[in-house]
Amino acid sequence: MNNKIKIAPSILASDFSKLNDEIHDIEGAGADFVHLDVMDGHFVPNLTFGPPLIKSLRNLTNLTFDVHLMVSNPDDLIDEYIEAGADILTVHVEACNHLARTLSYIQSKGCKAGVAINPHSDIQFLNNIIENLDLVLVMTVNPGFGGQKFIDAMIKKISSVSEIISSRDIYLEVDGGINQENAKDVIKAGANILVAGSSVFKVNKNTSYKINIDALRK
Ligand code: DX5
Ligand code: ZN
Repeated sequence: MNNKIKIAPSILASDFSKLNDEIHDIEGAGADFVHLDVMDGHFVPNLTFGPPLIKSLRNLTNLTFDVHLMVSNPDDLIDEYIEAGADILTVHVEACNHLARTLSYIQSKGCKAGVAINPHSDIQFLNNIIENLDLVLVMTVNPGFGGQKFIDAMIKKISSVSEIISSRDIYLEVDGGINQENAKDVIKAGANILVAGSSVFKVNKNTSYKINIDALRK
């Protein structure tokens, strides 16, 4: 595993009226991934976007598209998300009846497969599906909204997931309420991809996003 910390700005916090500029700006500012939060109004209360929007953004950048599916029945549209340009497709354990099958299907299509874990969910299941994993996403807020407060108890969970992953080539991503203050704690606990919405797009508004991205990485 490459030890460099990757920053994945979540465009949920960006200005949707100028997504073209927002994508180019985060790319210029040194973002590693673009984090795309898909919400269906069912698995989570909120609604965002689906494959057509991801497909139109795909023409703007070569950055890795990190697609986080907060949807019930994720199997229904996996092909569409991959065809739209997802490089990593992450499903929630709480939304999958046959998680190993879903993950191995994603991998069979040449896409990296991730599993996301809500704050209340246990992690022991990871041992049973570890062969089909490219990424584990530890939710550090309850999914559905940007701008929420980081749940401190998740630090211990990140460490436990890191122990399970051990030396395997599997990313450990954290998502929700990540900011300049807690970034060092989550990195110390083992995270190597930091999703950040508000702390990239909504602080230091009159300066470059580079300041915010660099601050998280340090
Ligand atoms: C929450 C989403 C997050 C969210 C992060 O359900 O999965 O990706 O956009 O936003 P911040 O960084 O503002 O908590
Ligand atoms: Zn997310």
